[in-house]
Amino acid sequence: MGDRLYIFDTTLRDGEQVPGCQLNTVEKIEVAKALEKLGVDVIEAGFPVSSPGDFKSVVEISKSVTWPSICALTRAVEKDIDVAAQALQYAKRKRIHTGIGTSFYHIHHKLNSNPDEILERAVAAVKYAKKYVEDVEFYAEDAGRSDNEYLARVVEAVIKAGATVVNIPDTTGYCLPDMFGEKIKYLCDNVSNIDKAIIATHCHNDLGMATANTIAGVLNGARQVEVTINGIGERAGNTSLEEVVMAFKSHKDRNIETNINTKRIYGISRMISSLMNMPVQPNKAIVGRNAFAHSSGIHQDGVLKNRENYEIIDPADVGINESSIMLTARSGRAALKHRLELLGFKLEKEKLDTVYEEFLKLADKKKDIKEDDLLLLVGDARKEERRIKLDFLQVVSGKNMVPMATVRLDIAGEIFSATESGNGPVDAAINAVRNIIHRKVTVEEFLIQTITRGSDDIGKVHMQVEHNEQTYHGFGANTDIMTASTEAFIDAINKMTPATAN
Ligand code: KIV
Ligand code: ZN
Repeated sequence: MGDRLYIFDTTLRDGEQVPGCQLNTVEKIEVAKALEKLGVDVIEAGFPVSSPGDFKSVVEISKSVTWPSICALTRAVEKDIDVAAQALQYAKRKRIHTGIGTSFYHIHHKLNSNPDEILERAVAAVKYAKKYVEDVEFYAEDAGRSDNEYLARVVEAVIKAGATVVNIPDTTGYCLPDMFGEKIKYLCDNVSNIDKAIIATHCHNDLGMATANTIAGVLNGARQVEVTINGIGERAGNTSLEEVVMAFKSHKDRNIETNINTKRIYGISRMISSLMNMPVQPNKAIVGRNAFAHSSGIHQDGVLKNRENYEIIDPADVGINESSIMLTARSGRAALKHRLELLGFKLEKEKLDTVYEEFLKLADKKKDIKEDDLLLLVGDARKEERRIKLDFLQVVSGKNMVPMATVRLDIAGEIFSATESGNGPVDAAINAVRNIIHRKVTVEEFLIQTITRGSDDIGKVHMQVEHNEQTYHGFGANTDIMTASTEAFIDAINKMTPATAN
């Protein structure tokens, strides 16, 4: 029996901070339930004081999840801690995660303070959180660039004040694996009461070292890892859950065990990618489309002779089931329902009927329906309640002609239409939408991607727009990229308040 490594998932907090990845409360509950089934020990559900939406999500997740601890983030500020404790009131097991910056930069240039005052504030925050909950985690922000001797003093003091977990974040993703491993070892060797708390790693991926640093931290004594599904997170992201879990599963000699049901990894990875409209890079370790695809003749031959010649992980161990039934235009509702359940979606009959209808339409256009296609259909079914819908689109464009687009929008049940030209077909369609909504909305980023490679593939469009100095993100997917682009623009407009949108 190996040493137990606790998995702290922060997909719903650090992961969700990524622009354009925001989820609503219902979606967050769905993710939290999937994380519970995956077997994570702690779910960081949000930063309650940051917005009423985050507060509500922490409350609702606390009510919906039984086994994992629910954690709420705070600054080392009493008001934050009061609000977090209130948001956690229904959690069966609860944790407050409070902390402050400990690096030279944070102490002097962010907090305008000095080391002794920061240490006092750290201790005071932990003591204050202890009034509400037994389980208090302290984070030393920017620990990756903090002086080890000072960090050890802070860690010792907060453990004395009652911290049960001490988090050592590499906030800026600056460390190299040997440095980070040495930092954890230094704390193990120099903090007299370190046996009274669990050390946690929380690594960011700015130099592509997040997983390596996390592994180095664990091999030097950390017993909690803070991770996200698919490694999503601000900038270059956080450590990815699947990489750390599979690294220790593949290296049993390191004697580290987690509670993760690895067969659920692929399903939750697709679910997060779909809900957050965040594609997984094809060569992403463990969950990328090509992670188990052997293309060279020598490799294919080797794998056919014995899978282990070229594969260190059995795809079935992470839930990739190659023998799953092919979905075609002849597949019934039951096959679709089964495949969606494997992907983590349990749809009610009415929703399933809607998705099935769309599935049949798509299967007519596209022979080979992939899981990503299904996820898009599920995503579309969720959008039904949107106030502004694209009712009709016709685009005329070609070489040596002025592109023209006619758009018809259904705005809360009323139909409006407009025809406009543009410097390209997308520009024309967007001008027509602008003409109807009478608002100045500027497109700042526009990204088109396909999932597979065929010309019959679904095009996925991400759009970032600006209106009244606010940024909004929209997403659209369709085999017709003009429709996908216009839908993405309309999706972003739907996120503005009705008063500003029209
Ligand atoms: O990266 C970081 O330092 C964090 C803390 C708030 C834990 O996310
Ligand atoms: Zn972070």
